[in-house]
Amino acid sequence: DFTSQSSLMNQFISELREVTIQKDSMRFRRNIERVGEILSYECSKILARTTEIIETPLGTKEMTLPAKDVVICSILRAGLPLHQGILNYFDTAENAFVSAYRNHIDDGDEFEIVVNYMATPSLEGKTLLLVDPMLATGRTMKSVYDVLLQQGIPKNIHIISVLGSTQGVDYVKEHFPEDTHLWIAAVDNELNSRGYIIPGLGDAGDLAYG
Ligand code: PRP
Repeated sequence: DFTSQSSLMNQFISELREVTIQKDSMRFRRNIERVGEILSYECSKILARTTEIIETPLGTKEMTLPAKDVVICSILRAGLPLHQGILNYFDTAENAFVSAYRNHIDDGDEFEIVVNYMATPSLEGKTLLLVDPMLATGRTMKSVYDVLLQQGIPKNIHIISVLGSTQGVDYVKEHFPEDTHLWIAAVDNELNSRGYIIPGLGDAGDLAYG
């Protein structure tokens, strides 16, 4: 949870949550993107690295650079602005897109996760950044991960999210490989009976895209 560490992160998260400011969908998308940029930077501190000799006009310098094995995988559609924020920093990353939605059974509180679209490069041996701004129950993230494994087993998994529930965080800890890293900007304690984060920010997909 980065809100205790960074007032700048708090500024972006507070604007995402605030009921009037969040109605400006361009600002909402840009704030999600900015959170993605910050989380990318934080995540980059522990990603695999390569060493390159960089030639300057006056000499050479050995520099440690991020490994070029990153695949950013986003869950449509709320994941798109977060994806863009991460891609702003990982210039050469490969990209994957998966769709997922909640199908409420008989309009009640019970729902299943439907995954029906996937376009992805091979994930075998790569660093997977799995991206979705909301981690409510965690079930979407897990369903998508299960489908993704058909494309190869990633070497490292980093989940990047903006807002989660304690329950979602626990679900990830239980259902993902032990060495999975979770980068999440803010975590709220409550999840209501329909699986919405309280106080949360509402429906990120609707706020970003109508
Ligand atoms: C939201 C959100 C996540 C999912 C999180 O998507 O963007 O994908 O719910 O919930 P979970 O952790 O309980 O699985 P939604 O179904 O609203 O679709 P949208 O992004 O297209 O609006």
